[in-house]
Amino acid sequence: MIEKFKTNAEVIENGDKYLYPNHIRMPISMERGEGVWVFDKDGNKYLDFVGGIAVNGLGHCHPRIQQCLRERAETILHCSNYFYNEPAVQVAKMLVENSCFERVLYANSGAEANEGQIKLARKYAKDHGHPERYVVITMKNSFHGRTLATCTATGQYGVHRYFEPLPTGFRYAEFNNLESVKMLLDEYVCAILTEPVQGEGGVRPASKEFLQGLRELCDERDILLMFDEVQVGSGRTGKLFAHQHYGVEPDTCSMAKALGSGVPIAAVCARGEAAHTLTPGTHGSTFAGGPLACALAETTLDVMLHEGVIEQAARVGEYFRGQMHAVLEKNHPDAIKEIRGLGQINGIELNKESGQPVVDLCYKDSSVLINNTNGNVLRFIPPLITTEEECDMVIEAVDKAMTKLGW
Ligand SMILES: Cc1ncc(COP(=O)(O)O)c(C=O)c1O
Repeated sequence: MIEKFKTNAEVIENGDKYLYPNHIRMPISMERGEGVWVFDKDGNKYLDFVGGIAVNGLGHCHPRIQQCLRERAETILHCSNYFYNEPAVQVAKMLVENSCFERVLYANSGAEANEGQIKLARKYAKDHGHPERYVVITMKNSFHGRTLATCTATGQYGVHRYFEPLPTGFRYAEFNNLESVKMLLDEYVCAILTEPVQGEGGVRPASKEFLQGLRELCDERDILLMFDEVQVGSGRTGKLFAHQHYGVEPDTCSMAKALGSGVPIAAVCARGEAAHTLTPGTHGSTFAGGPLACALAETTLDVMLHEGVIEQAARVGEYFRGQMHAVLEKNHPDAIKEIRGLGQINGIELNKESGQPVVDLCYKDSSVLINNTNGNVLRFIPPLITTEEECDMVIEAVDKAMTKLGW
């Protein structure tokens, strides 16, 4: 018999003893969730604007997700890719029918999906008679994952440090600066990879001209344009895919996070010839596209697409940004450098070294959970079902924290 921990403090004490210390955690042991609310082991209630780092798109314990899990428990959880399973086909069909893409390749995490994109780009070049092409241009300040290839693809020294020698084949351009991309293009480049909105890099939307310019550069050279929508896909920006705001169609696009409502699943959507590049024996995964994760993704997409969730993210996100300007910028003009975002990924860049004091005070004084990214950007990535009232509560908490800090 396992002797269960009884309090928040007990979980934390044992966590600090037994868990590998590669994360800095807030002193909350998450016990359960309900919509946009979470409860710790002691029964304290918090408003969750971290949302599992953009994973809990439908919030916690959505009834359709609960129902789906119950059904899965009584049917089949795993069967391997030697066989078909209906949820995998349904999810692929839904993604294709609601995008510019033709095929869907599954993975288990964002990093793994991006690994798939990188491999796909290299093989595409070889298939097209360019064995010399292997370099992927990515952007400074980007984030693409923690595996060796994807941490190298990530344009941040802090993510590379300690892991040299890194894999070869990555160059870093300035985000939103087409000229800097052009300067890196040569006969060795096989693809350009970017997030349409940088998430970890401080909630920075790309400009339309930048993404359009990348599309043209890729078309001119027959190299692939690959988007990383691990964080900003799956409805987050108020459209199923973030690039649908821009009218720019990539050759491939990764997604993960909110796709499975908490169960690991990721995908690479592809079109044109890129939709046929990875042939049997070149890429795959034991777990990817399994019936459990795909059934959850099927339900997630069904709710998002057919129950107004994506529209709600667009509407409420816009309201949220409006209130940030009206209240926070007005009350703390010197502390706030810029407010930016799209749908329900929003950030406040501060004229301060770090946003962590605001994060800590929101938690301690208002039971509101937010996070700080890229040093001094407060990031808000709540469930997409969040309402205007809940946004007001967060504005109030941030306002109170900044006032207390004398900002
Ligand atoms: C844009 C982007 N790409 C890739 C990743 C890596 O995803 P995962 O942690 O699922 O490997 C993340 C994670 O935050 C991300 O935001």
